[in-house]
Amino acid sequence: MSNFLLHYKCIECGKEIPIRKKMVYTCPDCNNNLDIIYDIKRLKKEIKKCDIENSRDYTIFRYAPFLPLDLNSKFKIPANVGWTPVFEVKRLRQALGLKKLFIKDDGRNPSASFKDRASAIGILRALELGEKLITAASTGNAASSLSCLSSALGIKNVIFLPASAPKAKIAQLLIFGAKVITVKGTYDNAFDLSWEATKRFGWYSRNTGINPYLSEGKKTGALEICEQFNWNPPDYVFIPVGDGCIIGGIHKGFKDFYDVGFIKRIPKIIAVQARGSAAIYRAWKNHCDIKPVSAKTLADSISVDFPRDGKKAIRAIRDTHGDAVIVSDKEILAAQELMARLGGVFGEPAGAAALAGVIKFKNERKLKTNDSVLAYNTGNGLKDIEAAFKAVKNKVIPSKKDFKELNRIKKLVV
Ligand SMILES: Cc1ncc(COP(=O)(O)O)c(C=O)c1O
Ligand SMILES: [Zn+2]
Repeated sequence: MSNFLLHYKCIECGKEIPIRKKMVYTCPDCNNNLDIIYDIKRLKKEIKKCDIENSRDYTIFRYAPFLPLDLNSKFKIPANVGWTPVFEVKRLRQALGLKKLFIKDDGRNPSASFKDRASAIGILRALELGEKLITAASTGNAASSLSCLSSALGIKNVIFLPASAPKAKIAQLLIFGAKVITVKGTYDNAFDLSWEATKRFGWYSRNTGINPYLSEGKKTGALEICEQFNWNPPDYVFIPVGDGCIIGGIHKGFKDFYDVGFIKRIPKIIAVQARGSAAIYRAWKNHCDIKPVSAKTLADSISVDFPRDGKKAIRAIRDTHGDAVIVSDKEILAAQELMARLGGVFGEPAGAAALAGVIKFKNERKLKTNDSVLAYNTGNGLKDIEAAFKAVKNKVIPSKKDFKELNRIKKLVV
């Protein structure tokens, strides 16, 4: 166990639960999700910013003292997760009238999505516990990252996902050797099956929201932002939201670094949801409990009926004086095309939703030209090329294999 770990804490009733060599998923009293709490006093005393800056480990493990794992563990993830680039996107800035817009691109992780951060920590916890089989429900990325990072370690994966998941994500799962169960239903149906399997068979669960170690992996996105911005993070961070685990993790990361005094201010966190999958947005705007919706959006990764980490998402918005915004599929596709053409970053629709949220906020005059704003691209566009073709309306120009075609081509393209 990390030298700096204290206990789990229920996000709802505050119950503190000791961390032992047995997996705890949710609060035994009220069944709500858990935070993992560190000894901030000791971290403050023993870990300095320069210790981190001097690290030559350019992965999420440069933040090892802030992770819930045995610092002397013999287990290693066989890929480089994290330390993804932040781009200044100058042409995109000009086009949008935002002088300090940045894009952080997590499509460059080993399995091409943000989810590798969570899988890495979830897998290491499973190895510490001696687990040999991990099950997960997924819209696609969580599972493909799990298989990518764990199959080479000899861990079996049993994956439940909606049959409608993009083919590239299913291909990733199969090539990494996962047992793939395509469910005739939604992500939520897949989630229920996978969780029931954990309850019946004792399989280790990498289900979002349920496994508290995942938020700890996801928080590394925020830890990196702090360091990449020289400990002065942007004013706003826009995060695409489905279950709410990424946004909750990002908030936890900023909070941990704020609590130890590494940053002086936490950015306002803005939740971006698809209009057709907006349970968290609705609860935030209407000041009410999160109620399930019947999700429908082409941004498959954020298509969720009932968000499993909704309470952490609402807390992230509220505690950072942030906000929530919804974007239509059309706005997501427009942002996807713009982010690639002017910013050089090809995101899948869910990832591009972050930029769509920025554009909407700017149009609604909620952002000023000089505000510093980071849009977090969470997944690579090659994960779902059918969506990408929709974004560009298939603009290819067919040609005969004949040099005479060149004059016609020149007229069309210049
Ligand atoms: C690319 C991408 N973006 C955003 C999300 C949303 O994350 P969360 O469900 O934790 O809100 C996901 C989740 O699968 C994802 O894969
Ligand atoms: Zn509780």
